[in-house]
Amino acid sequence: MKNIVCLILATVLLFSLCIAPALAEDQIVINLFYEHPSTDALQRIIDAFEAKYPQYKVNWIEAPASQDVSHDMLVTSLAAGESIYDVFSCNVIWPAEFSQAGYCLAVDRFLDDSELDLDNFSDGYINAYTFQGKMWGLPWYGNVGILYYRTDIIDTPPETWDELIEKAGEAAGKEGTSFGYVLQAAQYEGLVCNALEFISAYGGTIVDGDGNITINNDGVRAGLTEMKKLVDEAKVPENYSSFMENECQVAFGNGDAVFMRTWPGYYANAKNPEKSKISDKFAVAKLPAGSAGSASTLGGWGWMINKNSEHPQAAWDFISFVTGPEGQKINAIVGGQLPTYMPLYDDEEVLAANPHFADMKNAIEAACTRPVSPIYTALSESMQINISALLAGQKSVDEAVLAMEAEMNEKLAEYNK
Ligand code: GLC
Repeated sequence: MKNIVCLILATVLLFSLCIAPALAEDQIVINLFYEHPSTDALQRIIDAFEAKYPQYKVNWIEAPASQDVSHDMLVTSLAAGESIYDVFSCNVIWPAEFSQAGYCLAVDRFLDDSELDLDNFSDGYINAYTFQGKMWGLPWYGNVGILYYRTDIIDTPPETWDELIEKAGEAAGKEGTSFGYVLQAAQYEGLVCNALEFISAYGGTIVDGDGNITINNDGVRAGLTEMKKLVDEAKVPENYSSFMENECQVAFGNGDAVFMRTWPGYYANAKNPEKSKISDKFAVAKLPAGSAGSASTLGGWGWMINKNSEHPQAAWDFISFVTGPEGQKINAIVGGQLPTYMPLYDDEEVLAANPHFADMKNAIEAACTRPVSPIYTALSESMQINISALLAGQKSVDEAVLAMEAEMNEKLAEYNK
């Protein structure tokens, strides 16, 4: 795996050097690491940034589509102390790991002189970027898991997971559909996001406020039992275990699925008749409830500065622009992504482009976070492996829960040594 990551890194570097932008005298290049986009939003933000700050030129180095591979590429480069990337986008679950490992720069010293007012950002996201009393980046767009459903098949969205499983099982096959429900169930981070929604909807917890592993509890068992029932009875695709966001969205957009769980950012593409066959036949709703209510996982992405960047001020100017009101407004209107800069939920142009945002402000504030831990990636890996085995029928709920508890405690003990 390490070799593959190194090879990709070398190729990306070579490629980026070949396409480095032409520079005017005294211009500083900001090297940025971000995946291939599905909309023009980031390019439009970069254009606006370069127009405002002519002293900078942004060089976009494309990250791989898989966020787990991107994560490993970044870690390999940052752990080696390289300065290839000045700024990089980061998943909401990475700040504790990256700051603890010394990969990113604390931004507090820039904030003191900045016009950016952190009070305008969602508290949950500010907390996500705060670790040991400092801010390690800035939140960009928000994400919460939501339910997409076909309005030509389903009159009112189901209120409980039991009801959803029943309706999905009955409705699969209607109006040319093949699947009742599609979810992110490949063995990767998206599976943990989906599982956490079941776990939290049944009152389960994974860690407590002090970082102790609490996963061996009845809420977790009830949530995972319901998730297994869904995979068995809701007519999910046979190859559901290879489904990530893209596979789900392609299936739903093609008119193959009655229900889909994914993020709000897909809404703009689903509404676009050039990209979807169901543009006028779907709506979104909150996820169904379990015995403790409805729960959505908090996702989202932000920006960090490489601790070894040769141009920290330029890097700050970029990340504060992209995550500030101008950058987030473009990302909301052109990219259809949820702002973490809260005044934009009252912005008429943002709401005209995204009428469903009116309900999303509260959803962001109520969403459940994944454990904040420097070893989150290791904890998540244990969940990914054991929940995959449970869904495939290779482990019972009890076996999966006990295995996760033992592995997570072992990883924590190893880290605390
Ligand atoms: C989205 C979320 C991110 C999450 C991922 C899982 O990108 O924003 O937080 O980890 O999906 O697939």
